[in-house]
Amino acid sequence: MLLIKNGRVLDPASKTDGALDILLDGERISQLAPAGKIAAPPGGEVLDAAGLVVAPGFLDIHVHLREPGQESSETIESGTRSAARGGFTAVCCMPNTRPVNDNAAVTRFILDRAKAAASVRVWPIGAASVGSKGEAIAEIAGMKEAGIVAVSDDGKPIATGKLTRQVMDYCRSLDLPVIEHAEDVSLAAGAVMREGVTSTRLGLSGMPAAAEAVCVARDVQLAELTGARLHIAHLSAKASLEQVRWAKQRGLQVTCEVTPHHFTLIDEDVQYDSRFKMNPPLAAREDREALLAGLADGTVDAIATDHAPHEPALKDVEFDKAPFGILGFETALALALEQLVHTGRLSLMRMVELFTTGPARVLGIQRKLAPGEPADLTIFSTGHAWTYNVNDSPSKSRNSPFDGRTFKGAPMATIVAGRLVYRRK
Ligand code: DOR
Ligand code: ZN
Repeated sequence: MLLIKNGRVLDPASKTDGALDILLDGERISQLAPAGKIAAPPGGEVLDAAGLVVAPGFLDIHVHLREPGQESSETIESGTRSAARGGFTAVCCMPNTRPVNDNAAVTRFILDRAKAAASVRVWPIGAASVGSKGEAIAEIAGMKEAGIVAVSDDGKPIATGKLTRQVMDYCRSLDLPVIEHAEDVSLAAGAVMREGVTSTRLGLSGMPAAAEAVCVARDVQLAELTGARLHIAHLSAKASLEQVRWAKQRGLQVTCEVTPHHFTLIDEDVQYDSRFKMNPPLAAREDREALLAGLADGTVDAIATDHAPHEPALKDVEFDKAPFGILGFETALALALEQLVHTGRLSLMRMVELFTTGPARVLGIQRKLAPGEPADLTIFSTGHAWTYNVNDSPSKSRNSPFDGRTFKGAPMATIVAGRLVYRRK
């Protein structure tokens, strides 16, 4: 038994915001009551959360754990320890491993490794096409039986409209969301950053915002045609957000996520430093403004990190040769507080929603604090002052543009199935 007392409990599902105690019994929540009303369980543990926020467990629906195949950049063990430090209690891992998670055997391998070594829950995403090559549809039904929660060819888009339609038809019958890395690869070919004044000044090859938006437009049309659930990954452009807004107004089952780096940084921050290189690339100032508006007005459904570790040997090279991707877990909440809450743009409740009920809805599951629900909780401070030192990270990689940044607010404890998997000292 674990009693969490005196915290400010924020639960978007029930709109609760108050001083409550929460009693956990094994893997489930057993009781919630006004602060001071639950006696400390004999022989149980007590965690005093006075001054802290207690929220449903944060869920990150877009992460790369690199296992199997690229264990020198990350493993399920190292990646989920980093996730726990970031306050995440569950992560959905993308299938671009080696081999690609395009069949039930790989899905089972990931789940077995997670059972043995993970600090948080690991929910695999299966590939849409065999090898994510965009030619033949993957064995989606078999992977669903093995435990995938969505499909995606992330790292690249589902190659053609025809295949996307086929994947959507299939996923609709299986009730799985299709997660799209939206990119017209012909428009993006050879590009290493966003096209604009900054790419011209730096002499780097840029991809236009339209590379993302035209793929979103294609997919929204196909979602209407098929009735499938479509989720746009790491949405970065204003034009793409307008497509999603239009789809929602039409009543389509279209959702989207935004990363902390896209709502914090812009193309002007890129300085031949590969830690600022990711795909989609950092966008223009007006795109960031649009994302902030979408996060506030409900158009954006989730914050997801796109945690994309690359070991130093791969990433510490010239900008145009480096792989796309940056670390995400340990700075996500702090950046959300900094950019969204401390600025007054979003309420704390709305921010919590973007880390909890929002991503859960994308997957078609619930997240709430109630008796009988899984004992997954994220406890955080909105004021704790700290400096991020990437060398302290349990991740095997170091590719963060936020190394050395000072923050106000941090995860203080992460609880998964009633177990304390991270506690900030
Ligand atoms: O920046 C990125 N990194 N974007 C992607 O789409 C893939 C990811 C990775 O796997 O490194
Ligand atoms: Zn992607």
